[in-house]
Amino acid sequence: MPKALSAAATKGVADKVVHWQKSHGRNTLPWQNTQDPYRVWLSEIMLQQTQVATVRDYFARFTHQLPCVADLAQASADEVMGLWSGLGYYSRARNLHRCAQIVVREHGGQFPRQAALLQTLPGIGRSTAAAIASLCFGERVAILDANVKRVLTRLLAFDGDLAQAAQERALWALAQSLVPGEDADAKAMARYTQGMMDLGATVCLARKPLCTQCPLQTDCRARAGGTMENFPVRSRKLKRSGQSLWLLWAQDANNAVWLQRRPVPGIWAGLHCLPVFDSEAQLRAALPANARRDLQVAETFLHVLTHKDLHIHPMRVRLQAGRNLPAVPGAWIAATHWPALGLPAPVRNLLESSGRANGLG
Ligand code: ADE
Ligand code: SF4
Repeated sequence: MPKALSAAATKGVADKVVHWQKSHGRNTLPWQNTQDPYRVWLSEIMLQQTQVATVRDYFARFTHQLPCVADLAQASADEVMGLWSGLGYYSRARNLHRCAQIVVREHGGQFPRQAALLQTLPGIGRSTAAAIASLCFGERVAILDANVKRVLTRLLAFDGDLAQAAQERALWALAQSLVPGEDADAKAMARYTQGMMDLGATVCLARKPLCTQCPLQTDCRARAGGTMENFPVRSRKLKRSGQSLWLLWAQDANNAVWLQRRPVPGIWAGLHCLPVFDSEAQLRAALPANARRDLQVAETFLHVLTHKDLHIHPMRVRLQAGRNLPAVPGAWIAATHWPALGLPAPVRNLLESSGRANGLG
């Protein structure tokens, strides 16, 4: 079992991270230089599964349209989904909306200031709660996202298997033991949190970490043994599976498309989508007989989800609105209207590609 660092080394680590962050960390991202928990919360949720470069634009658009938590609470689900559309992992957007409504209804429009309370809100896990509380309010609580796990397991040569809950708990306790002491001010705590994130993202890289640039290089046990890339240890591998889907892409003479809202839970839950079928035969069966022979096979494409590769087969057909409707739930959505809806990214790309190719013809 790996041991914690000595008290002196522990204090040194926090000081070094804080000091390093000032001159070498990221200090100009759009969600920094504010203590506004709304902006920090929103950015942390977006950054959970999406890269900084992508989040920038989404964050700007989102905060422009919905500048505070009350605006988000009052927005429609369609507006929120529209703003999120393309970021993926749409449960994040649904939780975001619910969370805003709870903050307004139950907390008077003010985010709670303690991680323990923040963590009770939808979509806010332990690490995100700690990030908000430490960045905005200087609370002395540790974060432990994937990047920080890499830094800490290497620093401590922590070789417990993080697939085991007990090992993960042990690492949380070590993370908490490393935060700046009670004598540190709120600013130092915020810098420490940001510094750990920045170290993980820019120096302690998964492959070929840049140890010569690392403020912890003389403390780091993995570096001493040259075993950086052995950490973190995680035994359980995600098993990927594949699935084929058929999309019914029906348009009327005005290029309205037949869309339905996806059930919750399930793939693309709550989004507007072309009707989805498990086989081409089922898709054909949902069409009026006289429309089946006009079906056109569009190009199959691959869409990669966390646990699954989706092989998507779009099938196109023209129908006459009001005359022959598909035998599946849905509605004709005008070509002027669907772009503003929350659509799965691959479906949006498909519909947009046809607009470009045909000039909506
Ligand atoms: N990833 C998660 N939180 C972040 C932050 N505050 N800055 C940069 N990247 C992050
Ligand atoms: Fe990561 Fe290298 Fe720094 Fe150790 S010395 S924390 S392995 S970058």
